[in-house]
Amino acid sequence: MIRLGVNIDHVATVRQARRATEPDPVAAAVLALLGGADGITVHLREDRRHIQERDVRVLREVVTNRLNLEMAASEEIIAIALAVKPDEATLVPEKRQELTTEGGLDVIAHADTIRSAVDRLQSAGIHVSLFIDPDIEQVDMAHALGTNAIEFQTASYSEAVGGTAREEELAKLLTASAHARNRKLHVHMGHGLNYSNIQPIVRIPGLEELNIGHSIVSRAVLVGMERAVREMKSAMQEHDPNPKKSGA
Ligand code: PXP
Repeated sequence: MIRLGVNIDHVATVRQARRATEPDPVAAAVLALLGGADGITVHLREDRRHIQERDVRVLREVVTNRLNLEMAASEEIIAIALAVKPDEATLVPEKRQELTTEGGLDVIAHADTIRSAVDRLQSAGIHVSLFIDPDIEQVDMAHALGTNAIEFQTASYSEAVGGTAREEELAKLLTASAHARNRKLHVHMGHGLNYSNIQPIVRIPGLEELNIGHSIVSRAVLVGMERAVREMKSAMQEHDPNPKKSGA
């Protein structure tokens, strides 16, 4: 079975629009878990545009199955991660001007910084994932840096227009996933996935985890969080080649 990590950043975005106390991302996390989420994912950005440090601390108390912290490999955020101890830390690139994470982390260009972040997080017992493009050289470097998992960015696949362009992006994900599995890396994916484009993704052999935010929170605004998560889980299970086998 492929795990679903529900990214609840957008719930905090609505709260921060008014600098108010609602909606509470912690309440959203509880409802997502009731709807069948296998874990909760949040991105503590350096500019704190949505999730706040307190959210991460409270979520750590509430989310007992799997808390995944998306983060830049910056000194300040690493210190927070070491104190809060999420189950998993996913290192992502971060630019202040961007609307959302754009593209994967270049682990070749930033090898030294990433190696040090991976070592420090793993020493605290945190499982590390690197958010990268589906590129063989990036996978090889991620492996050399000692990461536990990689999360392939699926934005290029999600944004590809037309059958051929999408098939090409899917082929890259298939090839890079097979390569990562040969390197004994856990394979995760995320970004831009929704109820209608996940079908070919969940059929990729060896895929263990999806992290999905925008489409689930968008549907939750209309139908409620529990139902939005349940519908995503059933869309995933419908096409999962190993629906009963649990991912590591
Ligand atoms: N994975 C990573 C590493 C991300 O940065 C994001 C966006 O925060 C997601 C998954 C979820 O993407 P989306 O909100 O498009 O589903």
